[in-house]
Amino acid sequence: MSDFLTDLESGYSDSGVINGAAIPAGLVRPPYRWAWQKYLDACANHWMPQEINMAADIALWNDPAGLTADERQLVKRNLGFFSTADSLAANNIVLGTYRHISSPECRRYLLRQAFEEALHTHAYQYIVESLSLDEGEIFNMYQEVPSIHDKAVFLLPFIETLTDPKFRTGTPEADQRLLRSLIVFACIMEGLFFYVGFVQILALGRRNKMVGAAEQYQYILRDESMHLNFGVDLINQIKLENPELWTVDFAHEIRDLMARAVELEYRYAIDTMPRGVLGLNAQMFHEYLRFIANRRCQQIGLLHIYDNVSNPFPWMSEIIDLKKEKNFFETRVTEYQTGGSLTWE
Ligand SMILES: [Fe+2]
Ligand SMILES: [Fe+2]
Repeated sequence: MSDFLTDLESGYSDSGVINGAAIPAGLVRPPYRWAWQKYLDACANHWMPQEINMAADIALWNDPAGLTADERQLVKRNLGFFSTADSLAANNIVLGTYRHISSPECRRYLLRQAFEEALHTHAYQYIVESLSLDEGEIFNMYQEVPSIHDKAVFLLPFIETLTDPKFRTGTPEADQRLLRSLIVFACIMEGLFFYVGFVQILALGRRNKMVGAAEQYQYILRDESMHLNFGVDLINQIKLENPELWTVDFAHEIRDLMARAVELEYRYAIDTMPRGVLGLNAQMFHEYLRFIANRRCQQIGLLHIYDNVSNPFPWMSEIIDLKKEKNFFETRVTEYQTGGSLTWE
């Protein structure tokens, strides 16, 4: 019987989380309850972009005095980056990661995650259409704005590893390539490259500007926070089952990639806020990105990279930690719960 049919019948396979990888002797393969719980939590967080009222954003955008030129540029470049990045994310999951992760519980979560990436590109499209923006300008921005282009160039080799139809796991070298790509996807793409953009739009919302877009981004941030945490759990499970992959050289390489990503994202902060806007400036983001990079390293068991950094945007932590957050934008976040199991873990 094929592994696939065995999985269907038993609910889980006797291989580890990587497709075809054996589990070390003495380690019992449990059902991955952490993945199953995240699937349930993600379903409980369901939302749809068109349910969010964009009338105030449209009125503000059409008012010549509603936003400064810098604020308008920030919104457009932000949409340009995210629409490209979320398309890459969907491809990475559906055409890549799903094939290489055999656990049925993880695959179930990945399917939900892929759907959420569709919701995110739907949300950007909805904002672009609501504001009557030039779709060509927004969706081609990754080719026009150097820092957006550079972030995509950084990510593509790692995504292409997973989406290459010829790529197979099952050797230490291939499994390490998989692990490297999963770390780049979860901890750098979703866990670092999104955060300047999230802060920017949520900062507008805090000032009562672009409140519909900010509400969309609040939902997206909640989803992405879960994607990151699933990715971290997946990475740590693979480490547990395949300790030989986590060599000293590999750990150094990951920390170097993280440090490169901080500089790329900082360039994006400069490109989107060349003069500072909304009380934000690029230097604050340099601190913030180093703070986040340290946190991502710690989450996957690496030493921190930067000393003496703190979070210049403590209000972002409050949004991410929804346990403390009830009604940030007077949204209907809690009303979307269907099972009462909403968490941001
Ligand atoms: Fe997304
Ligand atoms: Fe995501």
